Amino acid sequence: MYLKPNKIISSKLAMRRIWVHPPEPPKSFLLSDPAKGVYLTKTKLFNVPFFWDFRKLINPHIAVVGVTGAGKSYLVKTFLTRANLTWNTNAMIIDWVGEYNDWVKQTGGHTLHFGRGEYLNLLDLAGMKPIQRVKQIISALEILTDIGKYPVQKRFTEDALMNTYKNHGFELTKKSNNKPPVLSDVIKELEKIKNKQKTEKKKDDVQECIHRLKPMTIKGNDYFAHHSTINLDKIIKMGLVNIDLHELPSEEMRSLAGLTILQMLKEKMRFEGWSPEKGLKLFIVADEAWKIAKDDRSDLITIVREGRKYQFGLIVASQNPTDIHKDIFSNVGTLFIMRLMFKEFKEHVRSSLHYSDYIAEQIDKLGVGESIVYLGYAQKTDFSNVVILNKIDGEEPLINYTLKGDKMEVTFMKEKFKRQLKEFGLNTQQIKNVCAMFEEHDNVIHVLQLIEQLEKYGFGPSLIITFMRELGLKEGELIPLFSRLQRKKMGIESDKLVRLVVEDEETKEK
Ligand SMILES: Nc1ncnc2c1ncn2[C@@H]1O[C@H](COP(=O)(O)OP(=O)(O)O)[C@@H](O)[C@H]1O
Ligand SMILES: [Mg+2]
Repeated sequence: MYLKPNKIISSKLAMRRIWVHPPEPPKSFLLSDPAKGVYLTKTKLFNVPFFWDFRKLINPHIAVVGVTGAGKSYLVKTFLTRANLTWNTNAMIIDWVGEYNDWVKQTGGHTLHFGRGEYLNLLDLAGMKPIQRVKQIISALEILTDIGKYPVQKRFTEDALMNTYKNHGFELTKKSNNKPPVLSDVIKELEKIKNKQKTEKKKDDVQECIHRLKPMTIKGNDYFAHHSTINLDKIIKMGLVNIDLHELPSEEMRSLAGLTILQMLKEKMRFEGWSPEKGLKLFIVADEAWKIAKDDRSDLITIVREGRKYQFGLIVASQNPTDIHKDIFSNVGTLFIMRLMFKEFKEHVRSSLHYSDYIAEQIDKLGVGESIVYLGYAQKTDFSNVVILNKIDGEEPLINYTLKGDKMEVTFMKEKFKRQLKEFGLNTQQIKNVCAMFEEHDNVIHVLQLIEQLEKYGFGPSLIITFMRELGLKEGELIPLFSRLQRKKMGIESDKLVRLVVEDEETKEK
């Protein structure tokens, strides 16, 4: 038997292909000093730890696509937690469905519940000139309402906004820190404009403008009609912050909140400029926020274009890749493809990435948490820019402990509590014992149990009260507990006495 020459050649070629184009980037490229990159998981083929480092990439922006339940939000959470540890990067999440609340709580971040006590004044200037802000407001109304179809009405609304600023002492082309007007002022201005119109047609047009805005000033629907409680300047420097929009009553309201926040953020970003000391200042996350990720006029696109130079990164996650604007999709430095179900979505992704049948096959095999990542390298390289990854290697679920009193309950993070115990003066073994107490009881114990334990370690009541206050317990509730403990102790004492007497009697009898 002999081998056909073409067979030899093709197998040699196949070997060479592997040699020339290794299926994974070299180890030296994937690995990183944990202080300089974010570890996510290991690669599928060679089991090399995969570190994400924006300095190796064309930009710090990330898109994640995959069917519901594929693990997109899990990936984002793991990523943000570690980016915060690695570079101290802040994050602002625009959370459509309220799925980041628990995680933010566990990581010691903050959640703002839009629709429950938080307001954002649509007329806030956020450092801009009134004339700029008017343009932005009109642009948001164009995305969300039909105003774009009625140029006359658009003009009336624009005039009313400008007049409102002017009547409140603002110069249209000057920045100002004065308290801005609110939506009801704009409605009043529109009423004035209406009364000045000479024809019924024009009056009707202005009335339409009033109709468009007025519902937003009605109680219960007035989330954009009051002075802001949300301070973006602070929020973008507060660590991990979730803006929970799910309690807003409609998709339009959520979109208006998302668009407005992005408009204002864009200004902050430009104003902040570049600073040499920090790698990445902020990640802006839009998870399932299709309405604001899809529109040409959305500032997510501006952030993708300009973010890198201001050290702002964008993360967009969506179950539907066609909902991510092509300018975002084709410009992100990192694209995670997770499990995709619909043929249409797969074709859409493939048409923009032009990957091989081999990758298509791999996409079909992805399980929960697994992904294929496309990397846009900062420098020209001759190795593969596609890496197949194992399941994202996330944090252990963070554990919370709860202390129960008679009328109170406080919950805190185990890790933070351990640090507090250490600062309080417990040694390692004592800390372990206290944790074991919680864990034996499903992480919930009564305050008295903890107080007793701390007393055993030699701490006096006043120190213990100070510590308990630090955990969030109220003094008024602690005092009665201490007196109960006192009574209980006396009970124990008398119990002991009874027992001793009984034992004594027993020995006597013998
Ligand atoms: N890498 C992973 N390791 C462990 N659990 C995961 C992982 N990825 C996802 N999960 C779990 O799978 C479920 C769906 O994940 P999620 O991130 O909410 O999906 P998506 O955002 O794509 O809808 C969640 O319960 C999540 O905890
Ligand atoms: Mg999700």
